[in-house]
Amino acid sequence: MCGIIGYIGHEPTAEIVDILLDGLQRLEYRGYDSAGIAIMTEQGLEIQREVGKLSNLVRKTANLDISSRAGLGHTRWATHGRPTEYNAHPHTDGQRQIVVVHNGIIENYLDLKQELKAEGHSFVSETDTEIIAHLIEYYYQGDLKAAVQQTLKRLEGAYSIVVMHAKEPNYLVAAKTSSPLLLGQGQGANFIASDIPAILRHTRDIIYLEDGEMAVVTPDKLEIFRIDGTPVERPIQHIDWNLVAAEKMGFDHFMLKEIHEQPTAFAQTLAGRLSENSQRIFLDELNLSDEKLQSIQRIVIVACGTAYYSGMVGRYLIEQLARVPVEVELASEFRYRDPILDEKTLVIAISQSGETADTLTAIKLAKQQGSPTLGIINVKGSAITRVTDGTLYIHAGPEIAVASTKAFMAMLAAVYLLALHLGQVRGHVDQSALSDHARELRRLPRLMEETLSKVEGRVQEVATRLLRYHHSLYLARGINFPIALEGALKLKEISYIHAEGYAAGELKHGPIALIDPLMPVIAVMTESAAYEKVFSNLQEVRAREGLVFAVATEGDERVNEVADEVIHVPAVPELFSPVINVLPLQLLAYYVALRRGYDVDQPRNLAKSVTVE
Ligand code: F6R
Repeated sequence: MCGIIGYIGHEPTAEIVDILLDGLQRLEYRGYDSAGIAIMTEQGLEIQREVGKLSNLVRKTANLDISSRAGLGHTRWATHGRPTEYNAHPHTDGQRQIVVVHNGIIENYLDLKQELKAEGHSFVSETDTEIIAHLIEYYYQGDLKAAVQQTLKRLEGAYSIVVMHAKEPNYLVAAKTSSPLLLGQGQGANFIASDIPAILRHTRDIIYLEDGEMAVVTPDKLEIFRIDGTPVERPIQHIDWNLVAAEKMGFDHFMLKEIHEQPTAFAQTLAGRLSENSQRIFLDELNLSDEKLQSIQRIVIVACGTAYYSGMVGRYLIEQLARVPVEVELASEFRYRDPILDEKTLVIAISQSGETADTLTAIKLAKQQGSPTLGIINVKGSAITRVTDGTLYIHAGPEIAVASTKAFMAMLAAVYLLALHLGQVRGHVDQSALSDHARELRRLPRLMEETLSKVEGRVQEVATRLLRYHHSLYLARGINFPIALEGALKLKEISYIHAEGYAAGELKHGPIALIDPLMPVIAVMTESAAYEKVFSNLQEVRAREGLVFAVATEGDERVNEVADEVIHVPAVPELFSPVINVLPLQLLAYYVALRRGYDVDQPRNLAKSVTVE
C-alpha cells in the first residue's frame, strides 16, 4: 500500500531530493494521499511533508537546496489517521533525532501508545507509525540497530520500516514482517524500497527481505539479520526489467500505455512455452511432475479483484480442456473459512504483485495443509513466489497504472497454457487439438493489435454517451461472464460510475428490476453458443426502455435490433474470445474516466498493491 524509499551513499549529493522524489514518483501507485521525505543534514534532519498527490510535495521542495548522503521517502495510503500533513510520514521521536517510514498496520499501537504516554512521551499524529519512532527512542542507548531490534519484538501486525538516526548518519536500518521490502545494491550507494520501480534507475541488483528479518544498510554493505540477531546470507538477484518499461513512452497515461502493451504481454507469457511445432507446452517451472498433475483431483484458484476474474476464465478453460473440477475463491474469504484441502488439491494463487496480503495468506494456508501450490505471478521474487512449490511467471513487465490491464491479459495467457498443459498430461487434449489451440494462441497478439486499432475511435464515441450515467449493468454468459465482471470493475474503479457485472441468465432473477432509461446495459455478445440467449436477454432490456451498448462480432448486423451502440471486434473462437472482448471494455473505462476528468492512473482510495488485510 504505502511506498517507501531509502538512500545512503558515500559522498554527499545535491541530487538527494531528486533521488527520493523520483523513487516516490515511481511508487505513487502504491498510495497517494500524502507524501514526505527526510534528509540527513549536518544541522539535523530536514523533513518535508505534504498532503495530496506527490506533485504537491515536489512543488513544496522545489527550492530545497541540500547536499546529503542519506534520506528516506514515503507515499502514504492512509490506514490509521486521516490524510493530513501531520499524519504524513516520515514520523519522528520526541527529540526529532530518529525518523521512521512505515508501510503496514501495527495492531497493538494503542497499548504501546498508552505505555509510552505513561513514560512521558507525547504524540503529534494519529498514526501507528509515530509509536515506532518513540519506542525506538525509548530503547535507544547509542546503538540504533539494537534499539530497532528491541522495538521490533514489541510490535504486532504487519510492517515494513526504514529508520534513520541523526546521530548515526552512516547507516539505515530496515525491517519487515508481512509488508514487502527490498534492498538494492548500487554503485557507491545502496537503496531500500518497497517495490522495484523505485530504484530501477539506479540498480537492478536486489535482495528481498523475508518476514522477521532486518537489515543494516551502509553505502558499501547490505547486511541482513533475523530479528534475534542471527546473520542471514542471501544472494543478490538480478532483475531484467528496464526503466523504459516503467515509463509512459508518449502515452497520456500508464493505463493507456499498458492497454496497448497487451499484445506484447500476451506474447511474452507464451514465449518459450509453446514448442515451435506446437507439439508440446513447456512448463517446467510448475515444479510438478506429470505424475503429480495426473493425480490431482481438484484445483482451487485463490486471488483478488482482477486477478480473481482471470481465475474465473481459468476455471472454464481448465474444466473444458483438462476435465479437472475447479473452484475459484476470493482469497479474502477463503483464508477465513476452514477450507477442505489435501494433497490431491492443487491450489493456485494468481497475483500481479505477488504481495496481496489475502492471497499470500490463502496460499500459505494451503501449503500448511499439504496441498501442492502454484503461483501465477508477475513480480519476480515477490512474497507469493517464495511460498509456492512452483511459479508460472507471466512476464508482463512492470504494471504501474492502479487499474490492472496488461497483467490481466498475461494472466489469461498463463491460464491458457496451464489448461492445455494439464489437458495434455491428463490425456484430454491430443496432439492435433493442441496444435489447433496453439495456433490460435499464437494468432491472438496480432488480433489484439488489430482490435485495439479498430475499436479505439468507436469506443470513444460510446464513452461520450456513457459518461453521463451514474449506474450501469455489464452482462455476458459463459467464458465471457468474467469479462463482464472485469469490465464493470474497470469502469467503477476509475470513472466512479456504479457498475455491476451479471451473468445475463441471472437478469430475470432480480437485476431486471433496475432496468430503465437511466441504467445502460453493456453486453458482451460475440459469436458463441449462448448468442441467442444473450440476444433474448437484451430484448427484455429493450422492452423496458433500457439503453444497450454491445460488443459483437464483425459482420453481425442483427445485433442492431437489440443494441443502441455496437462495438464490433474481429471474429475469434469462443474459447479465446475473452482476450479480444476485454479490450473494448478496458478502453471504455479509460475514455469515460478521462472525459469525466478523473485521474486515470491513480483513482481515489485505491492502491496498487494491497499489502494489508
Ligand atoms: C483492479 C486491480 C485489483 C487487483 C487486486 C489484486 O484493476 O488491479 O483488483 O487485481 O488488488 O492484485 P494482485 O494481482 O497484485 O494480487
